[in-house]
Amino acid sequence: MQFSLIIPTLNEAVNIDPLLTSLFSLNSVEADFEVIIVDDGSTDGTQTKIAQWATTRNVKLIERHASPDLTASILEGVRAASHEVIAVMDADLSHPPEQLINLVQPVMDGSHDIVIGSRYVTGGSTENWPFYRRWLSRAGGWLARVICDVNDATSGFFAFRKELVQYIPEKAHGYKILLELIMSGQGKLRIKEIPICFRDRTRGSSKLSFGHNLIYLQRLITLAGGTASVHTASRFAFVGFLGVFVDVLIFQLLISQGIGLALAHMSSFVAAATFNYTLNSKWSFRIHHDGQLRWKTFLRFLTIGLFSLLLRGGVLAWLIYTWNIPVGWAIFPAIVIAALVNYLGSAFYVFPRTGPAAPPDIRWRTAAVGVIGFAILLRFVYLGVAQLIPDEAYYWQYAQHMGLSFYDHPPMVAWLIWLGTALFGQNEFGVRIGAFICGLIAIAYLYAFARNLYDKPTAMCATMLFVVVPFGFVSGLAMLPDAPLIAAWIATLYYLERALLANKNLAWIGAGIAFGLGILSKYTLGLLGFAVLAFVLLDPVSRRWLGRPHPYLATAIALLMFSPVIIWNMEHEWVSFLFQTGRISGDQDGFSTHKLIAYIAVILTPVGFLAAILALYSVLSKSDKKPEFARKNLFVGIFTGIPLLIFLVLSTYDTPRFHWNSPLWLALLPTMAWIMGQQDLFRKASTRLRAAWQPTIVISLMAYAFVLHYATLGIPGLPYQFLNEHYFWKETTAEIEKIADEIKQQTGEMPVIIGLSKWSIASALTFYSHHPLTADIRSRNVFGEPAVMYDYWQASGEPIHRPILMVGMRKRAFDELTQQNDSPEASLIAPGEINSRIIYRYDGTPLRKVYYRIAQGYLGNSTTRQLSDLQNTAKSVIMPKISAD
Ligand code: GDD
Ligand code: MN
Repeated sequence: MQFSLIIPTLNEAVNIDPLLTSLFSLNSVEADFEVIIVDDGSTDGTQTKIAQWATTRNVKLIERHASPDLTASILEGVRAASHEVIAVMDADLSHPPEQLINLVQPVMDGSHDIVIGSRYVTGGSTENWPFYRRWLSRAGGWLARVICDVNDATSGFFAFRKELVQYIPEKAHGYKILLELIMSGQGKLRIKEIPICFRDRTRGSSKLSFGHNLIYLQRLITLAGGTASVHTASRFAFVGFLGVFVDVLIFQLLISQGIGLALAHMSSFVAAATFNYTLNSKWSFRIHHDGQLRWKTFLRFLTIGLFSLLLRGGVLAWLIYTWNIPVGWAIFPAIVIAALVNYLGSAFYVFPRTGPAAPPDIRWRTAAVGVIGFAILLRFVYLGVAQLIPDEAYYWQYAQHMGLSFYDHPPMVAWLIWLGTALFGQNEFGVRIGAFICGLIAIAYLYAFARNLYDKPTAMCATMLFVVVPFGFVSGLAMLPDAPLIAAWIATLYYLERALLANKNLAWIGAGIAFGLGILSKYTLGLLGFAVLAFVLLDPVSRRWLGRPHPYLATAIALLMFSPVIIWNMEHEWVSFLFQTGRISGDQDGFSTHKLIAYIAVILTPVGFLAAILALYSVLSKSDKKPEFARKNLFVGIFTGIPLLIFLVLSTYDTPRFHWNSPLWLALLPTMAWIMGQQDLFRKASTRLRAAWQPTIVISLMAYAFVLHYATLGIPGLPYQFLNEHYFWKETTAEIEKIADEIKQQTGEMPVIIGLSKWSIASALTFYSHHPLTADIRSRNVFGEPAVMYDYWQASGEPIHRPILMVGMRKRAFDELTQQNDSPEASLIAPGEINSRIIYRYDGTPLRKVYYRIAQGYLGNSTTRQLSDLQNTAKSVIMPKISAD
């Protein structure tokens, strides 16, 4: 077996003897290799040691005199090599010499192009490494995994065919020649990793320095399609530093003039950004900018600027409103985060690598990481500062009345809010953190599911589509039953795929648990049960599961987990199930399939909708004839198709709520991502789809950032016309409590506050009340109107002998109350006019209008009135009234 072993050295005198001794004691029949040691000007006598060995053994010494560089040394060694197969290893005995033969074997026999001695595959390990080195190596490895599919791309122990080095770009330098080799193959190389145990050196010292890490980062950015050099980065930093002055100065000036936070931070940002762009394009990234203005570049620059601006607003709001940090200080961390987004956006998107640009596959991967990272950051920054929507406040009310289940939903949403608020307090952050974490879990399972179905790039792309389409973004932010539902749905799919396609027995347990958690979140998950049944019946290979215990065990687990809901319902005359079937079969609005389709186009975006149609067509028509795809296609087809079919059938006679169909797209997302890369199968369609996704991704993300900024800080010049009825309950509650105080001053009694809606107003008022425990806030079931859980929490139709303050989102709510057949109008004692007030933010921005009406009491609804009349007559028979009026 003939190959060349290259060993770079820099001051390794103490290691030469032990290393070469163990190398040459390898079985010499198998190992007929030359050793090429490339030394970079060692000053400890390494060269003389080597020279001694060279007299008796096949050892060559190359002495370099240029500036020391590991990659350059190895390349020089390759040039001097006399064999076609090259192996590289460190001189410090960190790499096990006895593995050398196993390392070169697959290259020798032609089955692989590169073989890596890997620490990060099963069986591999690192020994004696200090914690920070482990951590650094891991971090470096994770970054590399974005752009290549190798577990240990930073290993220093590898073998390859010599001819591969010709593809390594000239700019390559630093420590990570392996990564350069892998990347030069553009994903077409056959790479194998064999496990090794890496032992830290016992003699001499490591030459890896901080500078090497910077170089690594820089090469990584370049390989990933960005522009990065210490040069541009430092210029960018310098420009940014100057920009901070412009930014802070203008910001402070405007704030001191009494201008609102939103306008101040946006104006100063625009000023600083213009300043920065001018300098960056003319100076920092000048290579990419030959002086003339390029519209595409400028548009992209504006886009990135807007992203960081809208994110920065959230950071500011968070620091100022949640942490009470003075405005003048809060601007600094906000600038830092915006600068980071700006830099990465500039390096990868505004001024990407040119000549040659990175291959599209790599660019999509980098884009995926950027988009997913930004979406998660955006959610995290705003989750604690954006006020609750009434629905979230209602589920928070659930958590204040903890139970096994609830009338209109199973209990998971309440349990999560209970936990979140127990840990982080009764605030928006505490309420929403559960949704945020569910979002992360969903991302992880979707990634794993898509990777199992297709491959890693597809998985990255599918995950990106998930965080970008409206249902995906919102489900990781808003604390609704859909948040845990989506996470559990995708987890169930993941385990079912493992069980049914990968034949893993244990995955059934996972599927049972995920299914149980899902059905505790929302009943829609039950649709997956039909899909499993259909798949097992239609797929001949899966049919044998019917005769095995695992699926039944999974069903038992799921049922057991669902038992709280069953117990609660047993105690409550099965109301949930009646309610849910009532929703499906109750008053029907007739044919609504067109609405369902419109809703799908909203929750997936129109481009996502078209992609979904193409993906569904592709799995159903089995456009890919490979047999291993047949079962995958069936899986995707059934797990999307069966729930979709049920929705379609229901929509022929009733309108579904618009987000109900969200989870059923989870099974299809990987295929939607996969077809984007299949030019040979779908030709123009996949190219067009990719082209259409680009603006869709940017516009959707921008829309979320925009709406979040608008809802928390506002957008200067844009009035609140769109959120006004359902939102801003924080300020609204303060105003309502003010009215309540006025009533107390006049009458001596605190009024009962009644929200004129099923549950939203009462819940939002309670969440934002300053004394939620003592305030008497009720829902419209006071008037005998059904009000879901409020019927269990508060008495219905009872008389009230105190002033009452009714609150409505719109005037109509009061009219409706008057028009009801059992009109409470007659039962109100001395009702006043229907009034309204305009609600302002602290800075004077008008937010919305709220309607209210005061009465001096309530006689009770007709049933309770008759009842109490009866009781009164009964009483009066037994004992006459004590006093007449
Ligand atoms: N010719 C030459 N020029 N050799 C060098 C240079 C240089 O500039 N710098 C280091 N070497 C030699 C060392 O003498 C040693 O034989 C080998 O390269 C590895 O250097 P170490 O200083 O021992 O590196 P390390 O142990 O910290 O890093 C190892 O593990 C990393 C994994 O995280 C190396 O194998 C790296 O390549 C690997 O990435
Ligand atoms: Mn070492």
